[in-house]
Amino acid sequence: MPKIGDIQLPDFPLLLAPMEDVSDPPFRALCKEQGADVVYTEFISSEGLIRDAAKSVMKLDIYEKERPVGIQIFGANLDSMLQSVEIVEKSRPDIIDINFGCPVKKVVSRGAGAGILKDIDLMVSLTKAMVEHSNLPITVKTRLGWDDDSIKIVEVAERLQDVGCKAISIHGRTRAQMYKGNANWDPIREVKNNPRMHIPVFGNGDVDTPEAALKMRDEYGLDGAMIGRASIGYPWIFREIKHFFETGTHLAPPTMEERVDAARRHLQMSIDWKGEILGVFETRRHYTNYFKGIPNFKEHRMKMVTSDDSASVFAAFDEVMEKFGNHNFTLA
Ligand SMILES: Cc1cc2nc3c(=O)[nH]c(=O)nc-3n(C[C@H](O)[C@H](O)[C@H](O)COP(=O)(O)O)c2cc1C
Repeated sequence: MPKIGDIQLPDFPLLLAPMEDVSDPPFRALCKEQGADVVYTEFISSEGLIRDAAKSVMKLDIYEKERPVGIQIFGANLDSMLQSVEIVEKSRPDIIDINFGCPVKKVVSRGAGAGILKDIDLMVSLTKAMVEHSNLPITVKTRLGWDDDSIKIVEVAERLQDVGCKAISIHGRTRAQMYKGNANWDPIREVKNNPRMHIPVFGNGDVDTPEAALKMRDEYGLDGAMIGRASIGYPWIFREIKHFFETGTHLAPPTMEERVDAARRHLQMSIDWKGEILGVFETRRHYTNYFKGIPNFKEHRMKMVTSDDSASVFAAFDEVMEKFGNHNFTLA
């Protein structure tokens, strides 16, 4: 069974992917409850952390109940990355993850995120320095390569392992692909099949059904699956995959009661975390996802995303429960 440093994981663990503006503490807690074995924060700027920018620092908050949790940071400057390791350690995460995969222009143009795929030596030396600077396990999340002509992920993964990286999560796309096309898991399998590899190799990209996760486990032989978009508004994906692995059958989708309960708890946890105003405002983008697929829902959605006080949002949830409580999601 895979281990990240000393952290023992179950067979074929499911990891919640780091996602900007999505993987906040309340959402991570909900995913954890539904079976995610490891959760990650969204990426946090090392430059923001060392400037003590409030927005970056707030992203370091973690709940005890979500452990094991990884804090993900990005940057390309050695000093800033090392300083931010020290800041991150004060939040006592279980893992520090380095983002070498973000394809966004403003990140890449500074040589950070996937930008570093153009300079593998720097990627390796940064990782080495961070490993030497921290007692926590350092993991890496990256993509296959910069573009189709520069896929060297087998060599890259081995070099990262050799400088002390404790696990690698690989998104089966290049930077040039952004999010287009299908994720290609073949090069990830090559990484896993490299006889010199002994750290866990987690696959990422397009795991959106129990069958896809099974394929990643049995056909590709990877050590675990990292799940991103399929979990947005649907933390139940984790329990559904686990149930499928255990029984070979599909779990019924969450009931309306479970969906309303998730939305309610997400909002309440956000308010407890950030206060009423920010909690209400910043949770808007999350909870309407919980009700995807319900016909004639617009009026209720509008209420949820335009109300300024939590009492009105909670009242909207109650109305939804009353009106759609018997909605049969298997027919949706
Ligand atoms: C809204 C959103 C935000 C993301 N933010 C991050 C991030 O902060 N750090 C990171 O490493 N990847 C980020 N990603 C990429 C995901 O972690 C993941 O690699 C990608 O979505 C592919 O996996 P999926 O097909 O399961 O979604 C983000 C993806 C999405 C959709």
